Amino acid sequence: MIHTMSASALLLGRDQFGHPDNKGKLMSDQEALRLLEEWVENDRLRLHMRQVAAVMKAWALEKEGASEQVARCWEQAGLLHDADWEKYPDRHCRVIVEKLEQLELDPDMIHCIASHGPRYFGVEPVSSMDRMIYMFDELSGFIHAAALIRPTRYEGMDVKGILKKLKTPSFAAQVSREDIQDALSRIPYPLEEIIAFIIGHQAGVQ
Ligand SMILES: [Fe+2]
Repeated sequence: MIHTMSASALLLGRDQFGHPDNKGKLMSDQEALRLLEEWVENDRLRLHMRQVAAVMKAWALEKEGASEQVARCWEQAGLLHDADWEKYPDRHCRVIVEKLEQLELDPDMIHCIASHGPRYFGVEPVSSMDRMIYMFDELSGFIHAAALIRPTRYEGMDVKGILKKLKTPSFAAQVSREDIQDALSRIPYPLEEIIAFIIGHQAGVQ
């Protein structure tokens, strides 16, 4: 999602999150969706989080060979990563991270959320879950923006068109190409594969 705060204001100032004893502890799907309903009014932002959640879950299952339980962790990180963005723009990331720590949830999920924007929150992505949320976040929003201006939305959308738009600075100008390149430099997959994966897995997200 778009971050508008100056970089230093959002720094979390630590790199340890949650408690190791809570590994594997997640909210139920209903609880997570309820939190989103309470915290996020903007439908577009809610959709963004459901899209990132779907892509994260699919990636865990299809590319990482993750178990259902681990894939749920990836999904929940995606679903909640921007939960505080609308209500607490000056403390974005800090509020949701502290909330999830209070609820004693999975430390890897909390770290994943804390590292979804290293430039802003000052937390380096460590696990593949961390690196992939960073990779998917901006690009997912970018691809959705591209879908919205196409009469057929996702239908018939191809990787080439997205690559072209990425090279057009005026298109979705708020999406940081620098962050996309930085995220890409941290993973062993080509941009084309990531774009194709996002198109394939977020098209059906309502
Ligand atoms: Fe986001």
